Amino acid sequence: MELCFFVAFSSLVLSLLHLPAAACSCGQSDCELIALAFRHVSGFQLPPPTADCSLRLPSRNLSGSVSWMHLRSVSALRVLDLSGNALGGSIPGGFWSAPALLHVNLASNSLGGVLRFDPGSQTPPLRSLNLSGNRFTSVAGLAALPRLEDVDLSRNSLDSFPLGLEKLGRLRHLDLSHNSMRGVLPEEFPPIAGGLGYLDVSYNNFTGVVQPEAVKKFGEPAFVEAGSLQFVSAARVVARSSSRSPSLRRTRHRRWRRRKITLLSAILSVAAVAIILVTLWYYLYRVNKEEQRTRGEKEGGAATVGDEAGGAVQKADEGDVEVREGVSAGKGQAEQPHV
Ligand SMILES: *[C@@H]1O[C@H](CO)[C@@H](O)[C@H](O)[C@H]1NC(C)=O
Ligand SMILES: *[C@@H]1O[C@H](CO)[C@@H](O)[C@H](O)[C@H]1NC(C)=O
Ligand SMILES: *[C@@H]1O[C@H](CO)[C@@H](O)[C@H](O)[C@H]1NC(C)=O
Repeated sequence: MELCFFVAFSSLVLSLLHLPAAACSCGQSDCELIALAFRHVSGFQLPPPTADCSLRLPSRNLSGSVSWMHLRSVSALRVLDLSGNALGGSIPGGFWSAPALLHVNLASNSLGGVLRFDPGSQTPPLRSLNLSGNRFTSVAGLAALPRLEDVDLSRNSLDSFPLGLEKLGRLRHLDLSHNSMRGVLPEEFPPIAGGLGYLDVSYNNFTGVVQPEAVKKFGEPAFVEAGSLQFVSAARVVARSSSRSPSLRRTRHRRWRRRKITLLSAILSVAAVAIILVTLWYYLYRVNKEEQRTRGEKEGGAATVGDEAGGAVQKADEGDVEVREGVSAGKGQAEQPHV
């Protein structure tokens, strides 16, 4: 009785979805799961059968949201291409445990939220992943997909460098360009050795240091407008590329400005020391001159009063009273220790 009801219900669902089961190349139960997964997607129609179980529906004007956990259960699904549609919502981390999925292209949709890879204890076979042109804000758990070779996360709103990238030993192609990634680009990244042959981190907001070897390997455009990166010990690279790369030119400009400031402060310090020395010398010279004059007048006043004009001598005598007192006071102080 229950079985009859279930069969009737299933066929009702299938007929409502206009799903010709024969047209699906994934097997009966998988085809039913696909129908369930796209229940809330408008514009969905099963593509013609293919040799293997794949779902290629690029640019079909699909909108709404996919029921990802139903799609995850499609045990034979190998290829999923839903690029260039208007699919929204987010993808639950468990979706990535799909047992046979090798290639996923969801580029150019309106998917968003946190992009979490949480396949549980399994190691998914996923090799290529294109999520370019969506609205994802951050990535977590990428290390759970160690078989990945091609990863395109460009043109999203990702806020930081994906953790665990270094665990993807088979990575060949990595595009992180056109995001809002902040923070330090990891020291050991990009790896110069190893299989990574294509890298793009341009149009982000990174800080940190890039080895000149990395610029040489991945090309200057890979680092254009990537933030305020420093291209260490790369005077040659910077000089050669300054005419083409605005970010490298900026770095060079900044370095030049820093050098200018250092030079300027050195000149100012030298000038300050010189001024102090000259002032000190002038002060000592004046003191010395004054002493000589005082001594000369003391001696001269006693011996050769008659040689000078009377008025001048009188004025000088008036001014000297204080000086003499000062000198004798000074002498008194200097002599005290001997008493
Ligand atoms: C795409 O789908 C929307 C509704 O979902 C419809 O209004 C629009 O006309 C469709 N565009 C094309 C090109 O089919
Ligand atoms: C990902 O998809 C976008 C949009 O279709 C495309 O431009 C880009 O080349 C793809 N990335 C890779 C690595 O194939
Ligand atoms: C980049 O980050 C700095 C702070 O680290 C911030 O002041 C600046 O506005 C950011 N630039 C962009 C384009 O997001």
